[in-house]
Amino acid sequence: MYRTNTCGELRLADAGKEVTLAGWVQRSRKMGGMTFIDLRDRYGLTQIVFNNADNAELCEQANHLGREYVVQVTGTVAERSAKNPALPTGDIEIIAGALKVLNPSEVPPFTIEDETDGGDDLRMKFRYLDLRRPCVRKNLELRHKMTMEVRRYLDSKGFLEIETPMLVGSTPEGARDFVVPSRMNPGQFYALPQSPQTLKQLLMVSGMDRYFQIVKCFRDEDLRADRQPEFTQIDCEMSYVSQEDVISLFEGMAKHLFKELRGVEITEPFIRMPWADAMRLYGSDKPDLRFGMEFVELMDIMKGHGFGVFDSAEYIGGICAKGAASYTRKQLDQLTDFVKRPQIGAKGMVYARVEDDGSVKSSVDKFYTQEVLQQMKQAFQAEPGDLILILSGDDAMKTRKQLCELRLEMGNRLGLRDKNKFACLWVVDFPMFEWSEEEQRLMAMHHPFTHPKDEDIPLLDTKPEEVRADAYDMVVNGVEVGGGSIRIHDSALQAKMFEILGFTPEKAQEQFGFLMNAFKYGAPPHGGLAYGLDRWVSLFAGLDSIRDCMAFPKNNSGRDVMLEAPSALDQKQLDELQLALDPKEK
Ligand code: AMO
Repeated sequence: MYRTNTCGELRLADAGKEVTLAGWVQRSRKMGGMTFIDLRDRYGLTQIVFNNADNAELCEQANHLGREYVVQVTGTVAERSAKNPALPTGDIEIIAGALKVLNPSEVPPFTIEDETDGGDDLRMKFRYLDLRRPCVRKNLELRHKMTMEVRRYLDSKGFLEIETPMLVGSTPEGARDFVVPSRMNPGQFYALPQSPQTLKQLLMVSGMDRYFQIVKCFRDEDLRADRQPEFTQIDCEMSYVSQEDVISLFEGMAKHLFKELRGVEITEPFIRMPWADAMRLYGSDKPDLRFGMEFVELMDIMKGHGFGVFDSAEYIGGICAKGAASYTRKQLDQLTDFVKRPQIGAKGMVYARVEDDGSVKSSVDKFYTQEVLQQMKQAFQAEPGDLILILSGDDAMKTRKQLCELRLEMGNRLGLRDKNKFACLWVVDFPMFEWSEEEQRLMAMHHPFTHPKDEDIPLLDTKPEEVRADAYDMVVNGVEVGGGSIRIHDSALQAKMFEILGFTPEKAQEQFGFLMNAFKYGAPPHGGLAYGLDRWVSLFAGLDSIRDCMAFPKNNSGRDVMLEAPSALDQKQLDELQLALDPKEK
């Protein structure tokens, strides 16, 4: 037997027992005639003591152990004289009687403890060592617990877990596909699924009624803290449901997960916010509602007073930061620089402080009388001590997005985005389409299979940009943790949708014929949703990036620096696949 116990298991009640542990040497300390080893495994840390006076040879052996050696130690559990309350095993230590090195280790490239000296790249290159650090391991444990709870919950609601293929066909909508060349079908390519959307709809046509899958999805898009090229969805679909049915079941699941994984009991129903309100009040379809600071529109009050920037603007809006009037000139300059960063793109920022006597002092005082500034103060319901920050621009949507960044920045600066506080909502009534400048055509905001609101169907022919969809996103703390919709189940309506999206009937048939044909054979009304597993786990674990809850994530350039992927193929493989590279790229 390699071990009788784990390194996290023994307590004072075990004192006197003869035990065998196996694990990694985290640290070794020599003090007088004693050598102390911290032995680590997945379960914890136990202190091992080697006493020179009892067994000089064994102690000498222990003195030669290096960091991360894999060892087996047999000894007696004893009460510690200097207890360590920070450690669950901190009341005991093992007085070693025998030691065996199971495998030596080279000096690791960084310290394998929560506090590490390893930089990001180094830790990713040696991710298997990084995963030995308890703080990283804990995230994978939470992820495991989450998937177990999801399976338990959905099983109890009658969902079947069904796998769908990873080698599918490429689709033109959505993000870019990752493609896989087919050796047996030269010149042809599979795509890795961006989501199992159409397949889960076919499973509804098959009569599976309630489907789920914890499934890898692949999207070739620019990466951010909450985006990876491969990520995991909790993908679900249900037959004979309305939007209300889907929202209610998955809100129930979210509340269950909050309780089981975070011990947070949410009794209130989640807020439902129409997309148009979210954009108007927060400039985002995923507003962070842990704090208020809603936008106030100022066109009526601030236009026409001779301040050219505002007079020519299509949109003028601001936020009121409570108690921030004490911001110094330097802090305000920093905020101006923040909104002027190329990623945000504002031209400038106007500020106004509400003084102790209620008067308003602004950066554009020479254009506005105190009376106008007081009207503005009223619009914000601002009080003495508050700071008002205003942006303006030619494009209302763009300016709102800039103001959204400023609001989030102020939320951070004022400590209003507490990771232990959770604000959940559903954003509903999304527009069916959005205009793509790049493609110069309408694109589906969710995906082309989303059902338009019944009452908006007549607008499809006349004002498609005004059609709203039966689509919904769940947002927690400003993160889109899931989204879904009621689907079209009628082949004629589906064909019409493709027409509006600019597909010729031939192209629609070629790309999505399988789905439209299936709809001819008794497709039930259906709808569903997909949660982003990685986003949920990082939210529960309080992580800044979803990378930290993935065992082997990619870096920001989409590379796995440990596997050195992606990599070039050798000529033999290219020949087998009948692929020729552009000589420039070789
Ligand atoms: P959607 O594209 O909104 O919907 O994706 C569903 C959820 O998946 C998560 N997510 C991601 N997580 C990490 N990295 C990414 N690159 C990434 N992209 C998306 C988000 C998101 O809310 N088929 C539809 C779902 C449906 O309609 O049922 C779909 O894929 O949390």
